[in-house]
Amino acid sequence: MITTNIDLAKQVLINNGIIAIPTETVYGLAGNTFSEIAVNKIFALKKRPHYNPLIVHIKSAAWLNELACDIPDAAMLLANRFWPGPLTLLLNKKPNIPDLVTAGKPTVAVRVPNHSLTLILLEQLDFPLSAPSANPFGSISPTSAAHVYNYFKDNLEVILDGGECNNGVESTIIGFENNQPIVYRLGAISLEDIEALIGKVNFHTKNDINPAAPGMLSRHYSPNTTTYLTDDLVEMITLHPNKKIGLLLFKELVVNNSVLQQEILSKNGDLSEAARNLYAALHRLDKLNLDIIIAERLPDNGLGKTINDRLKRAVEK
Ligand code: TXA
Ligand code: MG
Repeated sequence: MITTNIDLAKQVLINNGIIAIPTETVYGLAGNTFSEIAVNKIFALKKRPHYNPLIVHIKSAAWLNELACDIPDAAMLLANRFWPGPLTLLLNKKPNIPDLVTAGKPTVAVRVPNHSLTLILLEQLDFPLSAPSANPFGSISPTSAAHVYNYFKDNLEVILDGGECNNGVESTIIGFENNQPIVYRLGAISLEDIEALIGKVNFHTKNDINPAAPGMLSRHYSPNTTTYLTDDLVEMITLHPNKKIGLLLFKELVVNNSVLQQEILSKNGDLSEAARNLYAALHRLDKLNLDIIIAERLPDNGLGKTINDRLKRAVEK
């Protein structure tokens, strides 16, 4: 049921149930971090492999000390600057976090989401909420309550409706090795903004066999429709004659008769707006029974880097 009833949401969570929550990035599938029953329900409903750990959502940075230890100074700088907000920190975990949540890893992923409804809910709970994005494993993340409902129908007693997600792409994930910050996943906070605060950060290298952050799995965030990513739209369209084509474009329509549908991410070329619209546009295109979706590569700076990262994974077979 899609609802704004926080009391109902709270009741389900207290009884080891799971619900969908709005955040500023994407909707999450949430349960009590300390309840193995609830956390197992999340993995089962999402069909998520157990090697893929969950992000723990807390109401404020004051909760950090209950969950994590050996917190680097740079982590505190980031938390103070970006929380509540789309930043996830990977920190050494305390023993009270169930192994199920962290997939047996020594680290826990933590963030304070920036959505008023979810913050009010967290405020009323005496436990944090573990929540992956509220989509079946591998598919496009949901940025509205309706997206969540389309995926899970009435298997979710409560989908807390907080409107459309403001940022529209997942949180940026930063971990630490020998106190050096490492980016595990590009996200709604740009690399430039992170580096302006804590200096140069390195990338975690991708590894599909033993993914340290399986958001980095090559195929992820994927529509059902075959999708291509290109710098040269006209060439890509020409390569696919007699196909039902949909385009995912940055700011300008393309004049071409063989194209059935076009989605513009931001008329003004604003990368934040493009990120906010990305998944909804992909959801719409994916519903049209097209033969292919062709996505235009965005400028590779700021949130353009994050959007290109998601599009690259969306096109993987
Ligand atoms: O914006 C977001 O981060 C959204 C909202 C709901 O908060 N959540 C989200 O969760 O994107 P999910 O599960 O779809 O992606 C979380 C990523 C996964 O790639 C997971 O592998 C990684 O975080 N992760 C979680 N805990 C980790 C850990 N201890 N070490 C390494 N990676 C971790
Ligand atoms: Mg996800």
